[in-house]
Amino acid sequence: MMLEFDFEKNADKIKELKKMIEEKKDMKGALIPVLHDAQGIFGYIPKEVQVIISEGLNKPIAEIYGVVTFYSQFTLIPKGKYNIGVCMGTACYVKDSQKILNQIIKELGIDVGETTKDGLFSLEATRCIGACGLAPVIMVNEDVYAKFDASEVAEMLEKYK
Ligand code: FES
Repeated sequence: MMLEFDFEKNADKIKELKKMIEEKKDMKGALIPVLHDAQGIFGYIPKEVQVIISEGLNKPIAEIYGVVTFYSQFTLIPKGKYNIGVCMGTACYVKDSQKILNQIIKELGIDVGETTKDGLFSLEATRCIGACGLAPVIMVNEDVYAKFDASEVAEMLEKYK
């Protein structure tokens, strides 16, 4: 299953992470840069990776977990094959992007920051993506949906299934 961490498959990535840890472990405040490395290498920071960092930097796992969950740029679960971003910037928000977000939550049965069990979709609420003239805007990976409406959610999702 997608959410399980496979040590064998990730052997090269683990090696890369350990190299980063080795390089940075004597730096002051090494944890955040190492977490950035981990996020970049794995695309998320599961507990198995947190353990490697905890041992490498000689820091308690609770501290690692605390930092990972505090900063929104770090994620504990892998993103879906299709990552849906609903813009919650002002221009989109006033044009009812919350309604779109609610509809997607309802259709997929996941919350913001979660991934569907089959690994197909993940959901994010984003800041302004710089396309306010097209508000409300959502993105699915690189696809941009302009002047989108909550009533179009089901049809949009269907395209990716
Ligand atoms: S507020 Fe949504 S694109 Fe700017």
